[in-house]
Amino acid sequence: MRISVVGIGHVGLVTAACMARWGHDVVGMDDDAAKVATLQDGGVPFHEPDLPELLAEVTDAGRLRYTTDVAEAVAHAEIVFVCVGTPSLPGGGPNLSYVERVGRDVAEHATHDVVLVEKSTVPANTGARLSQVIEREDVAARGVTVHVASNPEFLREGVAVQDTLHPDRVVYGTSSDFARDRLREAYATLVEQDGTPVVETNVPTAELIKHASNAFLATKISFINQVARICERVGADVDEVADGMGLDERIGRQFLNAGIGYGGSCFPKDVDAFIHLARQVGEDFKILEHVREVNVSQRTRVLDALRDELWHLDEKVVAVLGAAFKPGTDDLREAPGIHLAKMLAAEGAHVRIWDPVALDAVEREEPWLTRVEQLDDAVAGAHAVVVATEWPQVAALDPAQLKAAMAYPIVVDGRNCMDGAAMVDAGIHYRGIGKPLDVG
Ligand code: UDX
Repeated sequence: MRISVVGIGHVGLVTAACMARWGHDVVGMDDDAAKVATLQDGGVPFHEPDLPELLAEVTDAGRLRYTTDVAEAVAHAEIVFVCVGTPSLPGGGPNLSYVERVGRDVAEHATHDVVLVEKSTVPANTGARLSQVIEREDVAARGVTVHVASNPEFLREGVAVQDTLHPDRVVYGTSSDFARDRLREAYATLVEQDGTPVVETNVPTAELIKHASNAFLATKISFINQVARICERVGADVDEVADGMGLDERIGRQFLNAGIGYGGSCFPKDVDAFIHLARQVGEDFKILEHVREVNVSQRTRVLDALRDELWHLDEKVVAVLGAAFKPGTDDLREAPGIHLAKMLAAEGAHVRIWDPVALDAVEREEPWLTRVEQLDDAVAGAHAVVVATEWPQVAALDPAQLKAAMAYPIVVDGRNCMDGAAMVDAGIHYRGIGKPLDVG
């Protein structure tokens, strides 16, 4: 099939590459000429394991090319995937103006019947709004029909290629048989190879499956973070609580890792958007409001732990280990480590930040932060070390060497990724999240 992807960021580029891997003829479009030029030169504009190799494979096979011209992308396609950003607005709802822009572009430039597919995460009313936009553009007068569908993605950054090539399920919603047939064809190779379950439904249901899935995963995280607070008070170990819970297949162990909280471009934005949508339809989603509140306050609890150990933070050297919002990516969006660094600096601490892949992003987006390239240099002479991202290099730090290198032996492990008992044995004041204070 001929497919176009409009918006080639983390979701769009991975979608384009995987669609090309499944044999389709794909055009990736973005209005960021520098990004398109980077891709045309064989570069990849962000860190994502397996993506460079996949892009090279499908580009060499002539099944993926790039353009900045939306008219060219629309004229090429039987399906146009909309993968543009939907950042949060100040009031908490998502900014859908980029989605509407693409809807108008498709209506304006369609030369034949085409399927417009929402892949960006959007509230459960966006498809209806897109249909209105298209009707107003009077495409019927040109004998062309633009069919609207929702096909949310469920990829996680850092494992985006694998999550897209081997998803737990494919979900698409539409009221158009034309659109349904083309989406079946788009995913035919995947479904035949993997036997992937497919959920075919209407547009609002598909849109809501995405929001509800992300909101539930965020809820699991804030739930275990709330449990962690109780663990600290009663001398329980939250990871062992999560292990015990997770053995119940109705609960599952994943997304029950207590820590400094969730970040990224999705959970914070999607929880806000779902709360906003609920309010719009007259239903308060109070659980999600508490999920958000717990998540934001996790950073403060880490700061309190540092204050508890250091007394005053001003003039103290604090090494923040991990800038990216999770391992395997260089994405700083809503990264807890960045939020914490700002809170520490506001209290007069001298903050150093280390990350194995995200320091270039820190230089671009947070140039005020002192970046340290080598992990050993980051911890040397520090009055405290705080783990914000569970990079393997951090988990592998040797307790004795760490104690010898630091000015004060104080470690707050915001991701419970270190061996707390070994840290305590080495004479380090180690604090995890949801761990008994005395044994780490
Ligand atoms: C998430 C969803 O997992 C994915 O399905 C959706 O398509 C996009 O949003 P992503 O944000 O890329 O993916 O990463 P994810 O692995 O979900 O982690 C999100 C945040 O939650 C990270 O900051 C991570 O550190 C945190 N997290 C995750 C926890 O704090 N505890 C956990 O147990 C799991």
